[in-house]
Amino acid sequence: MPRTQPNIIITGTPGVGKTSHCDVLAVNTGLKHLSINRIVKDRGCHDGWDDEHQSWIVDEDKLLDSLEDELPLGGHIIDWHACDLFPKSWIDLVVVLRTDSTKLYDRLKARKYPEQKLQENLDSEIMEVLLDEARGSYDQGIVVELRSDEADDIEGNVGRIETWIKHWEQDQVASAA
Ligand SMILES: Nc1ncnc2c1ncn2[C@@H]1O[C@H](COP(=O)(O)OP(=O)(O)OP(=O)(O)O)[C@@H](O)[C@H]1O
Ligand SMILES: [Mg+2]
Repeated sequence: MPRTQPNIIITGTPGVGKTSHCDVLAVNTGLKHLSINRIVKDRGCHDGWDDEHQSWIVDEDKLLDSLEDELPLGGHIIDWHACDLFPKSWIDLVVVLRTDSTKLYDRLKARKYPEQKLQENLDSEIMEVLLDEARGSYDQGIVVELRSDEADDIEGNVGRIETWIKHWEQDQVASAA
């Protein structure tokens, strides 16, 4: 069954603004916001807690198993700092958010990130790790890089994604006719 609503990944380094974007996008579009961090925790898709990185050790097979019934149906916004594990056939658009490193530093500092974790994330942003991951995992045509430096960027980006969704849905109707 072809999807009538798209699945969109919003990804990027921790602190770039994924959740801030997904919250607004979910309200404006009615698409379902899937916070993968919350799903990993709530559905037990992990092999325990990593104290050093202060995060769950994700069991990717369990995570995919827990999503395989709902995700392919469409209508989801996936909020996560990784994207390469989702099958290409499930995904219609990948948005990689990018942030200026001094701004990212301030945001992570405000969250009281330990120095080592903060530095790792800054390096990852500067080295474009998530952008490379997205480009290496999905067709170039569905990967979009957007800036998330200022509060106004959120509104602008969400507007662009909403326009994209409208076109995608029109294309689906046209190709089904
Ligand atoms: N475009 C922006 N301009 C200014 N501040 C922003 C912007 N995007 C996010 N922020 C702020 O940065 C902080 C981190 O944002 P958010 O929680 O949305 O990031 P995230 O990418 O979801 O992080 P994580 O990967 O840790 O879940 C929040 O305090 C948020 O208000
Ligand atoms: Mg978040």
